[in-house]
Amino acid sequence: MKTIIYYFTGTGNSLAAARIVAATLEDCELVSIAVLKDTPGNIVPQADRVGIVCPVYDAGVPRIVAEFAERLDLSRAGSTFAIVTMGGTGISALHQLNKILMKGQGRKLNAAFAVKMPGNFPPVGRPPEGEKKDAILAAADKHLVSIAHTIDQGIAVPSGFSPGSSLMRCLIYPPFFQNVHGMDKAFSVSDACTSCGTCAKVCPVGNITLANDRPSWQHHCELCCACLHFCPVEAIQLNMFQGTKGRGRYVHPDVKVSDMQAQRGQ
Ligand SMILES: Cc1cc2nc3c(=O)[nH]c(=O)nc-3n(C[C@H](O)[C@H](O)[C@H](O)COP(=O)(O)O)c2cc1C
Repeated sequence: MKTIIYYFTGTGNSLAAARIVAATLEDCELVSIAVLKDTPGNIVPQADRVGIVCPVYDAGVPRIVAEFAERLDLSRAGSTFAIVTMGGTGISALHQLNKILMKGQGRKLNAAFAVKMPGNFPPVGRPPEGEKKDAILAAADKHLVSIAHTIDQGIAVPSGFSPGSSLMRCLIYPPFFQNVHGMDKAFSVSDACTSCGTCAKVCPVGNITLANDRPSWQHHCELCCACLHFCPVEAIQLNMFQGTKGRGRYVHPDVKVSDMQAQRGQ
């Protein structure tokens, strides 16, 4: 049975999750959602089983993922699943995907999962470090292996319900979706910048150019924070909420700059 997993990632959690599931499913291809962003028309996966793996942003899915899901034509797919990776709570992101698929395709996800992984939004919470981070990653790996077997066996799994997550999605997601592309105005770069260009290389949506050897954000941001976290000298800050100065950085240990470039088809 052929499976296609569509993924989006900012700091590697969702790519690492997709890889674990792909390793269990026979004949499984990983496809980057970022690469499909500017292609025309609907997306018609040539696969029996279709999955989406992505992070939770503001209790919903990243805008790029919502727009991708709206273009999905699942007429050839027998079953579908989604896995959202999250720092704390995010079941409502699965409800959002169900709603989009219901509207466009008249069907819901056959199996829906939320997996706790290290949080990567330092303006709100410091990413875990050391043993705490290792424990979260080990638990996530275990959870993902079990999810992969559940998917492989074709077991139906509803998304579940969390009142807190649903309330958050009603309150904070609509303004996030509306304004996210321009939120890059809150990024700044310090004199520590070495002009290495890593920020531009890892940005999944090509939102960063180098102007006078410094990153310049082009206002089609997804707020994935790859630029912030992959910068080797912590020269980039995100100036919202509690800011990011001295508040830690996070990249999944198995995901490299080259994986982020591959996400963009480079
Ligand atoms: C802009 C932004 C918003 C986020 N919002 C949430 C959230 O509402 N709930 C949550 O549990 N985690 C939230 N997170 C944390 C990520 O969902 C989590 O760390 C995820 O695993 C990151 O996946 P990635 O490494 O594939 O990008 C947010 C992260 C970012 C960058």
